[in-house]
Amino acid sequence: MENKEWEPVWRRIAGTIAECLNEGFNHVKRILVTGAAGQIGSELIVALRQRYGSGNVIACGHRTVPNSEILDSGPFESFDVRDSSAVTAVVVQYDVDTIYHLAGILSATGETRPQRAWDININGLCNVLEAARQHGCAVFFPSSIASFGLSTPQDNTPQETIQRPQSIYGITKVAGELLCDYYHHRFGVDSRGLRFPGLISHETPPGGGTTDYAVEIFYAALTEKKYTCFLRKGTRLDMMYMPDAIRAAIAVMEANPGRLSIRNAFNVTAMSFAPEDLCAEIQKSIPDFIMDYKVDPVRQAIADSWPNNMDDSVAREQWGWQPEYDLPSMTRDMLDKLSRKLKA
Ligand code: SER
Repeated sequence: MENKEWEPVWRRIAGTIAECLNEGFNHVKRILVTGAAGQIGSELIVALRQRYGSGNVIACGHRTVPNSEILDSGPFESFDVRDSSAVTAVVVQYDVDTIYHLAGILSATGETRPQRAWDININGLCNVLEAARQHGCAVFFPSSIASFGLSTPQDNTPQETIQRPQSIYGITKVAGELLCDYYHHRFGVDSRGLRFPGLISHETPPGGGTTDYAVEIFYAALTEKKYTCFLRKGTRLDMMYMPDAIRAAIAVMEANPGRLSIRNAFNVTAMSFAPEDLCAEIQKSIPDFIMDYKVDPVRQAIADSWPNNMDDSVAREQWGWQPEYDLPSMTRDMLDKLSRKLKA
């Protein structure tokens, strides 16, 4: 047999070994991940494949193709999440039981074409939830700090509170949360979600978000020692390092369903800082790094409507959420990993 012909066999064996090694498994999951090339997808797929076996995690993209690590390590399918029959066909073809639905348009890009943001974010989710209803899948939905608005309490933002967002992205997140709740209560779909804060990672840059400065700043610090921030000094927002976000996304889907009272999305956070705090932390390692400001009014208005810091105690109580990285440890790790990557 050629090496290629052995690949599915090896994948199966790897899946079975992963199943035996990991605690708490009833069966090997068959997981579909939409938005495979995105900031979260590109790292979540690697983690899921390590955990459940490469052949059991189907990466899905549309316009953007994932990196070669993802393409070479397991199945990949290309389709538009707005195409309901394509979503269902892949669920059936791979006998999927869990869907991480990450495909979506972020906050700043959403403001440039609001109708497109609604179309992709809402119709994509509706198709995923329908496929899940028909074929008995669990669904992970990434909500966001963007689901809150100016009338939401900005400090220690509670799990249950006013959600009247100003951005179209935020509106799609609130509607998405409600749809997840609806499909759970009406049809018994095992929907679970997280209200992610800004996510910081060294692998794949975020595409068109309001919190992107917290990633851009690291590239600029290492290459030019200078960064112009598009958010104003004093703009405090919740943030999280990607390894924590990946752990959270896996943990909430593995949590005992009997302990979960929240089916729309849990508040989760790891740190809260303003641009000048991150700048000062970077300066501890790169003392001649400087930052100035050129405020982008669109992204500033969005950021001003988001919480300063969320209360994530419900996630901590119900499924043991606990971040590992704070501002200093995240900054050290980002500088370390990115400096190696940029040299390479
Ligand atoms: N990071 C996202 C954004 O800025 C928020 O969910 O759009």
